[in-house]
Amino acid sequence: MQGKNLLLVISGSIAAYKSLLLIRLLRQSGATVHAVLTAGGARFVTREALAGLTGQRVHDDLWAAEAEIGHIRLARLPDAVVVAPASADLLAKMAHGLADDLASTILLATRAPILVAPAMNPAMWQHPATQANMALLRARGVAVVGPGEGAMAEPESGPGRLAEAEEMHAAIAALLAPAGPLTGRHALVTSGPTHEPIDPVRYIANRSSGKQGHAIAAALAALGARVTLVSGPVTQPTPKGVMLRPVETARDMLAACEAALPADVFVAAAAVADWRVASEATQKLKKTPGAAAPTLTMALNPDILATLSKHTQRPRLVVGFAAETETVVQHALDKRQRKGCDWIVANDVSGDVMGGDLNTIHLISAEGVEDWPRLPKQDVAARLAARIAKEFS
Ligand code: CTP
Repeated sequence: MQGKNLLLVISGSIAAYKSLLLIRLLRQSGATVHAVLTAGGARFVTREALAGLTGQRVHDDLWAAEAEIGHIRLARLPDAVVVAPASADLLAKMAHGLADDLASTILLATRAPILVAPAMNPAMWQHPATQANMALLRARGVAVVGPGEGAMAEPESGPGRLAEAEEMHAAIAALLAPAGPLTGRHALVTSGPTHEPIDPVRYIANRSSGKQGHAIAAALAALGARVTLVSGPVTQPTPKGVMLRPVETARDMLAACEAALPADVFVAAAAVADWRVASEATQKLKKTPGAAAPTLTMALNPDILATLSKHTQRPRLVVGFAAETETVVQHALDKRQRKGCDWIVANDVSGDVMGGDLNTIHLISAEGVEDWPRLPKQDVAARLAARIAKEFS
């Protein structure tokens, strides 16, 4: 962690003493730690202890911070933000975007990866509100360590105990993943289906689960790339350290991809709807007794892969997917020509690929066709990411 800047937010919990141990471990590994203390946190640890251990000014007042350095600069400064202990209240604020003190304002403003280490009473941890907040945070890519089970300050046991300092240290090290072959590269990945509205309550979609696209985003991030994942509606968790741009329609997906440029590599793994309903009804379509069923007139959606392949800011490597049920390789060769991409990852979807865990791939590039064995989608992702890294080496 040599040379890394960490912002450690300490909120109210009796377990806050473990964060003092964490500061020592982090400094021993070469990191600089800036502490932000919430009003609750200040009930359990003192500014003086934090200033002494970090060797830095402690920030605890939004308006004082504003005058000195500005909360936005404080939010931009760190390589990672660690919230330990993270109280139920602060997690709820984070989940809902509240910004009423220095800590919550920084957490809303930062673009650095965030790790939270929850600590609270087991009933508070298990409450559906806290669990829903955690699900929201996880889906947005917030990393979580703990909580553990075991003896707590109160005569109660169950999950809610703050992770140990060593565990938090390891989780921070993972978050700041070591430089890989794609460090410094920006990868743009599309994933999932698109939803094309018919009226405010109905839409046209497809069976894409986003498993393959999300796995590719994770694999590229694991090799050090900065990854922007533009995904249609899926239930997959957002991979750690990946910047998610959630979208619904093909047109939204194209706009989000263009907004994310420049990128070094673009992987179009989304199952984009080829057509949308030409004129989306602004009110719910009603059944009129005796009247015929409505006819939907479709309009062609933009082709995101083809658009980015001939974009003025074309990524150096553009990778498309081809989902085929017959003459897989021939269709994929044609698709590569038609869409203007560099590689096509052709997958045979004649079986149970959509939503399943396995994929049979043929990788088509200017050099020819590579046949891969039937592999789990995670392995396909790792192999593709390694091939991409080789291209950039
Ligand atoms: N794609 C895209 N935008 C679209 C349609 C497809 O970016 N509007 C991308 C997909 O993400 C995938 C590739 O194009 O990388 C191939 O999509 P696919 O639907 O398999 O091929 P099509 O060109 O639609 O051809 P067909 O449906 O006739 O097989």
